[in-house]
Amino acid sequence: MKQNRSFPLRQLLLVLLIATVPMAAHIAPSEAKRSHSKKASKSYKHPKRHHGRHPKGGHITPAPPPPPGQGSDQPSDLPNVFDLLSYGAKGDGESDDSKALVAAWKAACSVRSATLRIPPELKFLVKPVTLHGPCASDIVLQIDGTLLAPRRIGSWPKSSRYQWLNFKWVNNFTIRGTGTVDGQGSNWWTWSLSYQMYSINQRKMKHVPDMKPTAVRFYSSSNVTVRDISIINSPQCHLKFDSSDGVMVTNVTISSPDSSPNTDGIHLQNTRDAEIEHSNIGCGDDCVSIQTGCSNVHVHHINCGPGHGISLGGLGKDKSMACVSNVTVENLSLQSTMYGLRIKTWQGGAGSVRNVSFSNVRVSEVKVPIAIDQYYCDKGHCKNQSEAVAVSGVKFDSVVGTYASQPVYLACSQDVPCTDVDMVGVQLTPASNSGGLREALCYNSYGKSTGPLLPSSMDGCLRSQSDFLRRIARSHDRGCW
Ligand SMILES: *[C@@H]1O[C@H](CO)[C@@H](O)[C@H](O)[C@H]1NC(C)=O
Ligand SMILES: *[C@@H]1O[C@H](CO)[C@@H](O)[C@H](O)[C@H]1NC(C)=O
Ligand SMILES: *[C@@H]1O[C@H](CO)[C@@H](O)[C@H](O)[C@H]1NC(C)=O
Ligand SMILES: *[C@@H]1O[C@H](CO)[C@@H](O)[C@H](O)[C@H]1NC(C)=O
Ligand SMILES: *[C@@H]1O[C@H](CO)[C@@H](O)[C@H](O)[C@H]1NC(C)=O
Ligand SMILES: *[C@@H]1O[C@H](CO)[C@@H](O)[C@H](O)[C@H]1NC(C)=O
Ligand SMILES: *[C@@H]1O[C@H](CO)[C@@H](O)[C@H](O)[C@H]1NC(C)=O
Repeated sequence: MKQNRSFPLRQLLLVLLIATVPMAAHIAPSEAKRSHSKKASKSYKHPKRHHGRHPKGGHITPAPPPPPGQGSDQPSDLPNVFDLLSYGAKGDGESDDSKALVAAWKAACSVRSATLRIPPELKFLVKPVTLHGPCASDIVLQIDGTLLAPRRIGSWPKSSRYQWLNFKWVNNFTIRGTGTVDGQGSNWWTWSLSYQMYSINQRKMKHVPDMKPTAVRFYSSSNVTVRDISIINSPQCHLKFDSSDGVMVTNVTISSPDSSPNTDGIHLQNTRDAEIEHSNIGCGDDCVSIQTGCSNVHVHHINCGPGHGISLGGLGKDKSMACVSNVTVENLSLQSTMYGLRIKTWQGGAGSVRNVSFSNVRVSEVKVPIAIDQYYCDKGHCKNQSEAVAVSGVKFDSVVGTYASQPVYLACSQDVPCTDVDMVGVQLTPASNSGGLREALCYNSYGKSTGPLLPSSMDGCLRSQSDFLRRIARSHDRGCW
């Protein structure tokens, strides 16, 4: 699918970037530091957002033209720039530049409208760090070079294996640039080996927690934008937002090999008002994973593959309560993924998934393009339980292309059926060279389908529903918003 990259804000931001970055780069570090106390102009303003919609171009105030008689490289009107190199970083890919990063962050965080700059063409090795706010005001992390995670698992302190770059309590924060964040995760992917070694070291530990680090994590943050950068080869998840709101991810590239286990692209948890757009994501697990506590999430113009597609869940593990609502996923292209659009819940959970819309999705050689699995289980078998996270109000509209295994798989709970599931204009044909195709399956799934539907095994797959069933489903989502 051709990506639509033409809305006006983009141009405006680009113009601002082009206008401000090269000039900012010319400020000598000492000059930049000296100007801390001066009131910096807001040449770049964080795009403001409202409830998961596009930031509005109108909020951005371009820098005023320089007064007559002054050179355009006059730095007094520029934001404060903190270059990682002026904080003792070596950028040789081998020296530990963590302390420099933390120091530069502290300095940038303490002034208004600062930019922390990771300069181009250099590689900065950084150990797990937490960069936390609250900062004096909005802040930009401009990544033009490369940030490298430690390659050896042994050089990750045991207490810091949840994530590598941890942003906590930041507001009005932007990461941008042409650079790369490289998690160098290959050693973590050969997990069976390290798992064994870890088990031997810990002798009695039977259940080794699956603690592979996330590359970039935001915790308890708001109004965060991540744009333009690449995030690659994470040990596990590439970009995670936890307990945050007002999230914008745009024009990012995420990649790790098809064979890397559990490497999610973007993971949202307890996060509201999030927009994930115009990005290319290919990894070993879900391209976008939406977990409990998420609402008002808009995912669009994403190319996904390889990977496991766009997922809501697994929700309700260990009888937990899960609530997800108001999710719109549209205008995507999925290529050679395991699943396409999937909702997965564990048996025994509580809560609900409500108001989810998947539309205008092109699939190509996707094994199972459409799935609701209320029997999700990551081991051989899970105990049969009657409680379930209720699933209602799910629309699949214009899902078109080829499947490699089964067009539709809707396995809803025995006791809590899926209700108001709509299929409109779903047109799926077998991919060439795919053997052993299965027919569409709908179990305990109620709603309506509006033709034409392809393949014909989907006709009558959804059962028509009564208000009684709707009430059953509703009675299970008490406790959600
Ligand atoms: C986030 O941005 C919105 C819109 O600009 C603003 O109203 C809100 O105060 C911001 N939130 C924080 C915590 O800065
Ligand atoms: C974030 O930006 C918005 C709009 O510019 C502003 O209202 C809000 O106070 C800012 N929040 C912080 C924590 O700087
Ligand atoms: C997307 O990011 C790349 C850098 O990775 C940049 O060159 C390009 O201009 C960005 N595109 C838009 C539309 O912002
Ligand atoms: C979902 O969207 C509806 C309609 O816009 C809104 O009333 C409701 O508050 C939203 N739910 C949540 C949890 O934000
Ligand atoms: C469903 O969610 C969308 C946003 O994703 C919202 O616009 C719409 O109003 C919601 N509908 C209901 C009935 O909550
Ligand atoms: C998705 O595509 C549809 C149909 O082309 C269009 O109407 C809609 O505005 C698009 N959504 C976004 C967020 O661009
Ligand atoms: C699971 O429980 C349901 C009743 O809730 C029953 O009909 C079904 O056969 C059981 N399945 C297995 C595999 O035990």
